[in-house]
Amino acid sequence: VKIDIIGAPTAFGQPKLGVSLGPDAVRLCGLKEHLSQLGHDVADKGNVYGKYRAEYGNHSERNEEGLMNFNQVKDFSEALAASVEGSLDNNRFPFIVGGDHSLSIGSVSGVTKKYNNLGVLWIDAHGDINNSDTSPTGNIHGMPLGVLLGEGSRSLVDIHHEGAKLKHENIVLIGVRDLDTGEKAYIKEHGIKCYTMSDVRRLGLDVVITKALKHLQDCDGIHLSLDVDSLDPLEIKGTGTKVDGGIFLSEMLLGLNILSKTELLVSADLVEVNPLIDNCNETAEKAVVISEYIFGQSQI
Ligand code: ARG
Ligand code: MN
Ligand code: MN
Ligand code: MN
Repeated sequence: VKIDIIGAPTAFGQPKLGVSLGPDAVRLCGLKEHLSQLGHDVADKGNVYGKYRAEYGNHSERNEEGLMNFNQVKDFSEALAASVEGSLDNNRFPFIVGGDHSLSIGSVSGVTKKYNNLGVLWIDAHGDINNSDTSPTGNIHGMPLGVLLGEGSRSLVDIHHEGAKLKHENIVLIGVRDLDTGEKAYIKEHGIKCYTMSDVRRLGLDVVITKALKHLQDCDGIHLSLDVDSLDPLEIKGTGTKVDGGIFLSEMLLGLNILSKTELLVSADLVEVNPLIDNCNETAEKAVVISEYIFGQSQI
């Protein structure tokens, strides 16, 4: 595979300092070298920046709809979408390393410029399917799927190209265990495919991913969005919204081994690595192992 690593150092979608350092924390653990060793042609495009610098993030600015750092998220999303689309134009696989999960508004908007029936595998403790009306926090990292489905703030929905980017039936949530009331109602109302953490425990992540791929088999491409908070906090400390009872690293690798075999995978995000709340950068270290499995690593 020809892989473009795209650093997406945004922190505007949530209130904690440090998640903008995620891309560099992962680079320092040898992301490019490890993927190259698997035989891939890997380029690091560096970090995407909008006109606002996330390091000096303004985490107190709320717009009239209650959205935090609205202008910053919108601006960053436009910049990231352009970079992602550019990689696809060059027949390269955009691998976006974050940064908080609001970045998926940009990454998926870039991908859907090329793939108009895109499927999305959303592996996360959360649904991230809020909008300005249902969000309890105003943090946009809890809303990317809502935005991509065309809900809430028009000017976020219309980023990069007009209108909703995804169809409800083309989304599969995996590993969820912390949904807000409005998110539960939305998922039920639209019949969104959802494998909760209980389903993962019951069936195993490998079976869940197999079923999810079956559900998305008629899509023209599949995007993986992997939030590291889907993993169990016993193993992953460096992320801002930890929830107990998550996926263990070993079962994540088993699931990704299944996923890596599909020809449909066209792009991926790895998000919410925050080295400032980590233990000796071990979350970034594990993020590199996860990345290797996305791109075909196996135990033998
Ligand atoms: N549901 C909560 C919210 O909307 C938490 C979202 C956490 N999202 C994340 N990408 N870690 O604020
Ligand atoms: Mn190694
Ligand atoms: Mn999450
Ligand atoms: Mn998330």
